[in-house]
Amino acid sequence: MTLAQHYQQHLSVDSVLDKVAKHYPDGPTFFQLAPLDQLHIGGIKASARLIGLLDPHTHPRVLDIGAGAGGLMRQAADAGFEMLGLDITHGFNRLNQGLSQLAGLEHRAHCITADALNLPLADASMDAVLFQHSFLNMPDSASVLHECHRVLRPEGRLVMHEVVRGPHANTMHYPVPWASDARHSHLESADQLRQQLEQAGYHIDHFVDWSDDALAWRQRQRDKECQQSRQAALSPQLVFGERFITMGKNLVSNLSKGAISVVEVGARVG
Ligand SMILES: C[S@@+](CC[C@H](N)C(=O)[O-])C[C@H]1O[C@@H](n2cnc3c(N)ncnc32)[C@H](O)[C@@H]1O
Repeated sequence: MTLAQHYQQHLSVDSVLDKVAKHYPDGPTFFQLAPLDQLHIGGIKASARLIGLLDPHTHPRVLDIGAGAGGLMRQAADAGFEMLGLDITHGFNRLNQGLSQLAGLEHRAHCITADALNLPLADASMDAVLFQHSFLNMPDSASVLHECHRVLRPEGRLVMHEVVRGPHANTMHYPVPWASDARHSHLESADQLRQQLEQAGYHIDHFVDWSDDALAWRQRQRDKECQQSRQAALSPQLVFGERFITMGKNLVSNLSKGAISVVEVGARVG
């Protein structure tokens, strides 16, 4: 199974867009879309923290690599950034674009289908690059960081909200939202990630482990999802299908046993 198949096998883009349009005839807000389009631990709050590491006045043009359904993109567009989302999963780009149209944000949030290893962008063309739970899918992550360095302008910024390998990685359970099994999960330890960033020419100015917050958030979400999954208008199940219940439980178990950790990183091109 390819990575794109993992993500889109239960996704019917047209029926999801239809459902959103019927439920929010005046257009959804990014808060209303969050259960569907913020496909990472920490939801809308985590995205706000990550966006807060950037300034729309100094770093307006942002490339979101692995943008998924685009929740962070619309949130950042609303905060004044010019967002370009790039994702290898074409179905997600169609969903992302459709949601931006329904939300009336299509002029400030564009997306393209491409691989992070070969960015279809000119040298020094972006002010910032962002990863949110997408670096974790990339086997050749060192090359991806070099490719990002190429498209970033001098003093450009790279920010990340990522899952890394925890101290007890051997207790890892699948499926998780980013991988059905170990084949598509490429987690590094926090120390390896730091090293890789430095070797690729970035100066790290922010590196925070927020696994404890992540666990508390995920436990609250899991309780909500178990109670509401069948009645809720929008939920991660619209993307992942019913397997998301198991994925959500495994996330809690992996976080609480230390199989994974969650970090937030800010760095700049030297
Ligand atoms: C777990 S989802 C996260 C989506 C989104 N960032 C979010 O937090 O809601 C990971 C995303 O990264 C994308 N992705 C993984 N590897 C990629 C690559 N090499 N190039 C571009 N996108 C990639 C996947 O298709 C998927 O949409």
